[in-house]
Amino acid sequence: MDQSLRLMIVDDAAALADAAAGAIVDAAVAAVAAQQRFTVALAGGATPRATYMRLAGPPFAEAVPWDRTWVFFGDERCVPPDHAESNYRMASETLLSKVGIPAEHVYRMRGEADDPETAATEYARTLASAFETKRGGLPRFDLVLLGLGLDGHVASLFPGSPAAREIFRTVVAVHAAAARIPQRLTLTFPAINAAARVIFLVSGAEKEKTLKAALSDGGLLPAGIARPADGTLTWIVDRPAASLLSPELLGPLSR
Ligand code: 6PG
Repeated sequence: MDQSLRLMIVDDAAALADAAAGAIVDAAVAAVAAQQRFTVALAGGATPRATYMRLAGPPFAEAVPWDRTWVFFGDERCVPPDHAESNYRMASETLLSKVGIPAEHVYRMRGEADDPETAATEYARTLASAFETKRGGLPRFDLVLLGLGLDGHVASLFPGSPAAREIFRTVVAVHAAAARIPQRLTLTFPAINAAARVIFLVSGAEKEKTLKAALSDGGLLPAGIARPADGTLTWIVDRPAASLLSPELLGPLSR
């Protein structure tokens, strides 16, 4: 079993927000100690939202070196930044406006752009410049946070979408017909899997089947493809979401 994969099961949604905020602090402190900066890609969704609210308060907020932190987004819905469905707005309201992060350290995806393809290419350039990658190189985020969609999507990489099989580009525009806001921008798996750490946040009984499938049939669901090539993968899940995980699965996973 892959020793870089860790499963952490906590009691409920509140404990999950606590554990996730703690894990983000740990990643930030370690990254700044090692290379004087911390780069993180945020997720959208209700579970990440609860974590950001926790991270914005004591004792977590004081523990993050915000002036050495750079924030990016794993995905964005194609709406203006002040729209109720904007991931930027959500992160801004719950976290970024509440902590001492310099405004120029926050790189949002331009969900409001007329042409999502252009916005995706622009964000790929933003990443290349922020991470100083050469042509064809991949950004190495210190941390990519991911939620788990009911259908097994991560970021905006949906089951069956060609975007989930992208191998060259780091950011793409996608059209997910079933989603409330179908047009989206997203990091691709090459970008996600180049990260030093990937942390999944999964809460609630409605995710039990999806979580089981993601952990046991790696590769069939987009969530199973998120596996850093040279980094750690941590699943932080609550008991209601973990209720279908069998002891055979749990044993090796939580080792
Ligand atoms: C988004 C996402 C998406 C989300 C999951 C989980 O913008 O919708 O980034 O991938 O993280 O759908 O969201 P919940 O925690 O709300 O289920």
